[in-house]
Amino acid sequence: MSFIEELKKRRTFGIISHPDAGKTTLTEKLLLFGGAIQVAGAVKSNKIKKAATSDFMEIERQRGISVATSVMAFDYRGLKINILDTPGHEDFAEDTYRTLTAVDSVIVVIDVAKGVEPQTEKLVRVCRMRNTPIIVFINKLDREGKDAFDLLDEVESKLGLSVTPLSWPIGMGSRFKGVYSIYEKNLILFQPHGKQEEEEIISITDLNDERLDKEVGKDMAKTLRDETEVIKDLYPEFDQEYYLAGELSPVFFGSAVNNFGVRELLDCFVEIAPEPLPRETEERPVNPTEDQFSGFIFKIHANMDPNHRDRIAFLRICSGKFERNTNYLHVRQNKKMKFANPTSFMAAKKTVIDEAFPGDVIGLYDSGNFKIGDALTGGEVLHFKGIPSFSPEQFRFVNNADPLKTKQLAKGLDQLMDEGVAQMFTRDTDGRRIIGTVGALQFEVIQYRLEHEYGAKVTYEPASLRKACWISSPDDVALKEFTARRKKDLAHDTEGKLVFMAESEWSLKMVQENHPKVQFHFTSEF
Ligand code: G4P
Repeated sequence: MSFIEELKKRRTFGIISHPDAGKTTLTEKLLLFGGAIQVAGAVKSNKIKKAATSDFMEIERQRGISVATSVMAFDYRGLKINILDTPGHEDFAEDTYRTLTAVDSVIVVIDVAKGVEPQTEKLVRVCRMRNTPIIVFINKLDREGKDAFDLLDEVESKLGLSVTPLSWPIGMGSRFKGVYSIYEKNLILFQPHGKQEEEEIISITDLNDERLDKEVGKDMAKTLRDETEVIKDLYPEFDQEYYLAGELSPVFFGSAVNNFGVRELLDCFVEIAPEPLPRETEERPVNPTEDQFSGFIFKIHANMDPNHRDRIAFLRICSGKFERNTNYLHVRQNKKMKFANPTSFMAAKKTVIDEAFPGDVIGLYDSGNFKIGDALTGGEVLHFKGIPSFSPEQFRFVNNADPLKTKQLAKGLDQLMDEGVAQMFTRDTDGRRIIGTVGALQFEVIQYRLEHEYGAKVTYEPASLRKACWISSPDDVALKEFTARRKKDLAHDTEGKLVFMAESEWSLKMVQENHPKVQFHFTSEF
């Protein structure tokens, strides 16, 4: 198969949701369709339950699981589909934001009873910043939930998406009869806990067909007929071009746990979802069809095997063909590297691969060379954009609790920051180190890992800080004046960028007002 044929086969996407909406269940059903797993229950949820926050072993176990499920590849209808796993726990939101830089489209799962939840809102906002094409799957129709029209309104208003339903539920909860596929013009009947067989799909091209009354009863048939008329008036016809531009999201209804409505979702996905898309770099746009290989690291995972200190860096291939044992340029370090054991992931199985194509994600064994956002190329100097750090909201001072292990501590902190576990800032006035995170769980993860992987001990001290903002100004004089006046609030991040540490939203606002020529950025990329 030619290079272009290989790349055109790839569909790389992520599933996002608020915890408990059914992301893990849906992932598993998709893998079952693809034959990547044989039995239900093979994909372990990587969610960390609230109760487990102080249980370090649990954190460790979860980390192990999330390595195994970071990328799941399967073949379906001649395509190679890569699902990138996104942690649902909000404390790991930043991990999810970064994973979203490596996908070409997403499926958003929404619980029919709960509607749009906060985590869904945050994640969709990140997708919309990049115009990522989005398909919506409304899950748990076997339970009572919100009215379908109300839900679509909520999706439009809270997520800011324009939607059009491609399937429509007939009843819900105990009265759930199935869905009518607007996309395929089929009636799909629901049998709780049954396997969806071909014969349960009835092709009805005309909704006035009397078979509809027979199958779902006269009342429900009438409701469906009325509602599809309303749908025609309210929602635009599906248009793939708008979907690919991130401007129109098709919506499906189903029940993941009952494997209902999932095949319809997958069949539509393989028809409409984008092939590997171009990526922006500081130098120029990179097209997947280019001959020269390029890719970037979007995730780094510490090895679970205590005998091996090395880590796995996840590389998204953006252009050209990646080959095993071939020299590539590590752009940030300006050095050539080659990889003897690059791995691909089929569900929980890892295999060494000889080559990989745009859209693929491979795991590279790394002894500490990589950082999130690093580029690997055939020789050209490229810096991929859109992999920012987000302004953290929780801060603590780090104290070295074992002076004999100062070196180990420094190394451990450096490596954990490279992995993107948290961000570290060094205060200008006294050189004290401050760790900033999106969620509180990371503080425990860092403390535990420093001790178990690096033999270093830390204690934390509360820091009364609310926000860290990256600072810039086109006006040198204004910037100088600002840094002189606010010296006590300034720090530098691990890249050496200037950061303002605000004690409260209010103080941040005051400082912004007092220094109109200084810009305050909430992501590290500006
Ligand atoms: P997540 O990854 O988004 O966090 O959600 P997950 O798939 O783990 O699903 C959360 C819960 O919702 C699970 O129940 C799962 O079985 C259930 N669920 C998923 N899809 C459906 C559906 O279509 N209908 C109904 N009624 N439930 C669904 P749990 O009790 O938390 O776990 P489990 O013990 O059942 O695995």
